[in-house]
Amino acid sequence: MARQVWKPGNMVYPVPAAMVTVADKAGNTNIITVAWTGTICSDPPMAYVSIKPERYSHHMIEETGEFVINLTTKATAFATDYCGVRSGRDEDKWKATGLTPEKASKVSVPIIRECPVNIECQVTEVKRLGSHDMFLAKVLAVDVDEAYMKENGKFELNSTGLIAYSHGEYRELGKAIGKFGYSVRKKR
Ligand SMILES: Cc1cc2nc3c(=O)[nH]c(=O)nc-3n(C[C@H](O)[C@H](O)[C@H](O)COP(=O)(O)O)c2cc1C
Repeated sequence: MARQVWKPGNMVYPVPAAMVTVADKAGNTNIITVAWTGTICSDPPMAYVSIKPERYSHHMIEETGEFVINLTTKATAFATDYCGVRSGRDEDKWKATGLTPEKASKVSVPIIRECPVNIECQVTEVKRLGSHDMFLAKVLAVDVDEAYMKENGKFELNSTGLIAYSHGEYRELGKAIGKFGYSVRKKR
């Protein structure tokens, strides 16, 4: 079968649809949904978000140099979409979604209680790329919901109902098909 060749565009999917929390210097806070986010370095742990300058959240990140990446689940999918189609310029998205702000451990920006993982970040560099500004950041702390901690100390992240965003749709993750390195592990 022949392949179509499309003009350049963004087609790296699936990606997260994270709810990113932000604050300005006066202490006002907001939630923005961000798909252009990810890990960029393991040691030191670093992450990024790419945000359009016209987003209300953009100036807030610039003011405090901080943000929190809150991982999203099936239970928070509706709120995730909402925070991606409504602006904090016009309304309080905490009130509109019923999400609960909680104090972070290292940054001034609140974490979202309903999310199983909250990644506290401090901006180290801003890259003005074009449509989006990329905020590169150091991870200062990772908060996890104790409800998913097992007695043996294992964090059951894959039991939290994580969702992904792919080609315009929010999707649940399917069942496990292998573990890291399973392709080379000897069968017992
Ligand atoms: C699934 C999804 C992913 C999105 N990803 C991004 C993104 O990576 N960067 C961005 O600037 N806007 C992204 N948006 C759009 C913003 O979330 C949206 O414009 C939002 O209303 C901005 O909120 P604010 O004005 O309160 O900052 C995304 C929206 C959705 C629904």
